[in-house]
Amino acid sequence: MKNISIIMILIILFLSGCESSNQSSELYDSKDEIDKKVDSVLSLMTLQEKIGQMNQYNGFWNVTGPEPKEGDAAKKYEHLRTGMVGSMLNIRGVDEVRKVQKIAVEESRLGIPLIIGFDVIHGYKTISPIPLAEAASWDMEAIKKSAAVAAAESAASGINWTFAPMVDISRDARWGRVMEGAGEDPYLGSKIAYARVKGFQGDDLSAVNTVAATAKHFAGYGFSESGRDYNTVDVGTSTLYNIILPPFKATIEADVKTFMNSFNELNGIPATGNKFLQRDILKEKWKFDGFVVSDWGSIVEMKNHGYAKNDKEAAMLAANAGSDMDMESYLYVNHLEELIADGNVDEDLIDDAVKRILKVKFELGLFEDPYKYCDSDREKRVVGSKEINEVVLDMAKKSIVLLKNENNLLPLKKEGQKIALIGPLSDDKNSPLGSWRIAVDDNTAISVLEGMKQYDKNTLTHQKGADLVVGNPAFVFETEINETGTSGFQAAIKIAKNADVVVMVLGEYGFQSGEGRSRTNLDLPGVQQQLLEAVYKVNKKVVLVLMNGRPLTINWADKNIPAIVEAWHLGTQSGNAIVQVLYGDYNPSGKLPMTFPRSVGQVPIYYNYKNTGRPTYPGNNLVFWSHFSDEENTPLYPFGYGLSYTTFKYDHLKLSTDSFRGNEKIEVTFDLYNTGKYEGKEVVQLYIRDLYGSITRPVKELKGFEMVSLKPGETKQVMFTINKEMLKFYTANEKWETETGDFKVFIGGSSYTKLEADFEFIN
Ligand code: NOJ
Repeated sequence: MKNISIIMILIILFLSGCESSNQSSELYDSKDEIDKKVDSVLSLMTLQEKIGQMNQYNGFWNVTGPEPKEGDAAKKYEHLRTGMVGSMLNIRGVDEVRKVQKIAVEESRLGIPLIIGFDVIHGYKTISPIPLAEAASWDMEAIKKSAAVAAAESAASGINWTFAPMVDISRDARWGRVMEGAGEDPYLGSKIAYARVKGFQGDDLSAVNTVAATAKHFAGYGFSESGRDYNTVDVGTSTLYNIILPPFKATIEADVKTFMNSFNELNGIPATGNKFLQRDILKEKWKFDGFVVSDWGSIVEMKNHGYAKNDKEAAMLAANAGSDMDMESYLYVNHLEELIADGNVDEDLIDDAVKRILKVKFELGLFEDPYKYCDSDREKRVVGSKEINEVVLDMAKKSIVLLKNENNLLPLKKEGQKIALIGPLSDDKNSPLGSWRIAVDDNTAISVLEGMKQYDKNTLTHQKGADLVVGNPAFVFETEINETGTSGFQAAIKIAKNADVVVMVLGEYGFQSGEGRSRTNLDLPGVQQQLLEAVYKVNKKVVLVLMNGRPLTINWADKNIPAIVEAWHLGTQSGNAIVQVLYGDYNPSGKLPMTFPRSVGQVPIYYNYKNTGRPTYPGNNLVFWSHFSDEENTPLYPFGYGLSYTTFKYDHLKLSTDSFRGNEKIEVTFDLYNTGKYEGKEVVQLYIRDLYGSITRPVKELKGFEMVSLKPGETKQVMFTINKEMLKFYTANEKWETETGDFKVFIGGSSYTKLEADFEFIN
C-alpha cells in the first residue's frame, strides 16, 4: 500500500470496538451515525477532492455512450490516483473492480472507495425478461425477486450500484426504450418501480447481495416527440404531475438511493440543468437525500440543446440545478474549481453533493470494506447459479401474454403431433437477451428450438425460412439489418405443408429495440410478414410466437392467425418458458402493460386518454368527431388485456354504498368464475373514472389490481376498497387533492371492461 490514508486510519479508529461483518453491518443502521461519519470525512477533503467525488468515469472496456477520446484512459488512471474520481461505470467482474478500487483506496491521499455503477437493467450475466415483459406479469413479488437475483449476481461480480429501474412512463411504441420501462400506466408503473427498488436494495443495503438502485430518467424522457430517442419533451403540468412523476415518487417511498437525470429537455430546459426538477421537486418537496447522477454526457450536451454556451457554463448550470455527479462529461473535474473561485457555484452546493455521495458509500459499507464486493469465490458460486436461473425462468413464464387462441389451438398436444417450427427467431439464442446485456455472453439464451426438442413425443421439423438480420450485429442501424432474402421460404413452406401445427417465431431482433432504436414503422421487420402469409397459405394451424421489445402492429396476424403468444425478449430462459406455455405446462396469465395499436398513425395511443369535446364513438358515421377515418379507432389489444387457457367470467358487481365522505370507504365486491377447463390465474383490475374535475380527467384510470387463482368451476368473491386517497390527482389548485363529485368504477380483465357502477364522493 503506497499511502495508508488518513481517512482510513480515522475510520478504523472510529469503528474500533465495533464488529465488522462481510454480510451486513449494524454500524450503518443509524442515519445520524452516518451523517457524522460523512461530516468527518468531508472536513478532511480539499476542494479538488470534493470535486473528484462528483466525477464519474466510464471504465476501459465497455461503452454505453459515445466513444471516449484518445488519451482518456491515461487521464482516468491519473485521476484515480489523485482522488479525482468518485465512481466508475462499466467495470465488470471482481478482478476489474478490484483493480480500480485498489488504486482509489490505496494510492489516493484519502483512499475514499469508488462506487461502481453498471446498467443491470434486467439481469447481469443471467438475463431476465426485458422490463416491459416483466411488467406484463403484474406480479410484484416475481418482479422484486427478479431484481433481487440481478442484484445478487452483479454484486457478486464487484458491482454495487445499478442504473435501474427505468421508471419512465411512455405511450409511444416508436420509442425503442419502452422495452426498458413498465409501460404506459402511472399506477402500475409506480407499483413496479417500488418493487424493483426493493428488489435491488433489499432490506439491508450493506449486505453483499444488494446494490443501490437508480430511478431514471428524471424526467419526461418517455415523452420524446414522435418517439424519436433524445428528442424534445414538451408536456403540461397535469401530464407531468399525474402521469410522469408518480413512479419516481414511488421510488422515494422505497428509499431509492440515487436518481439519474435525463437527456431530454423538459419544456425548454434540459433535465440535467433543471433546477425545478432536481432541487425544487426532488430534493426539497420530496426530501430525497441520495444523489443525482447525470446521464452519459448529458451535462456537455446542454451546449447542443442551446442552453449552455460553453463547457464551463454547462458545468455551472448542472451543478447549480442539483446534478451531483457528472457521468462522462469531464466538466465538473475541469471547471468546478474555477466556477467556485469566480463565485458562480456556491461551495455549499458542492458540499451538499459530496455528502450525498459519501452517504451512499457509507450505507453500502464501502468504507468498512472497499473490497466487500470483490470475492472471487463468491463470484464463481453466485454468477449463473441454478437458483438465479430458476427465478428468471419463473419470471419469464409469468411475463408471457396470450393474445389470441381460436378453437383452443393451444396448448399443443404432447404426443403424436407433427410440429413445424419456422421463423428467423426460432433458433435465435441471442435476441431473447434483449439489448441491455453488457455482461452477458452472446448466444446464451435457450432458443425456442432447444425448448421444443424437450417435448420429444412429437415429431419436430425446423426451418428458419428467412433471416431477420445479416450476421449477428450489436450496434446497427435499421436499414442495415433487415434481411430481404426469400430463398428460404420454399423449405419452410414444405415442412409447414406436412405439419399438424406450425409454430412461427417472429418479431424484432434483440437490438431492434432499446436505446437509440426508435422506429417509424411497427410492422414485423424484414420479410417476416411475407413469410407468415406464405406459410399460412399452406397450413392455417399457425401459432405465432412474437419476440419483441415494444408493441407491434400485427393486424393481419390478428385477423388470420388462430393463436398468438406475446413472448417479448424473455432472457436466458426464453425457450424453456415459451415451450412450457405452448405445451400447457404453464397456463399464461400476463396482461399487456402497453396498448397495441392497429396502426402507427394512432400512436401515442393509451387507455387513460381524455374524452375530448367530440368523443370517439366507434360506429358513428358522421365526420365531425375525434377519430381517424381510415382505421378502426380502437386499439388492436388494449392495456391490461391477456388471455388464459381457461376462461373467466365477472359478475355481481356490488358497492357497499353509492356515496361516501371523508375517511369513509366503499367496498366493491364481485364474483369471479373460472368457466373453463384449466386451473388459471387472472389479474382482476379496478378502474375509476372521475366524471368531471377542475382539470379534465381520463376516461379510466387503473386504481387497483389483484391476482386471483381459480380451479376449473371455482368461483371467488373478490373485494376492493375505494377511499378518498385513491381519488386524488394534481388539480387546478396545483395540489394533490380529492375533488367531490360523481365517479364510475369498472371491474374486469382489461381496460376495455364494461362492468361498471356509479358512486359519489361528497366531501
Ligand atoms: C445512457 C442511458 O440513457 C442510461 O440509461 C444509462 O444508464 C447510461 N447510458 C449508462 O450506460
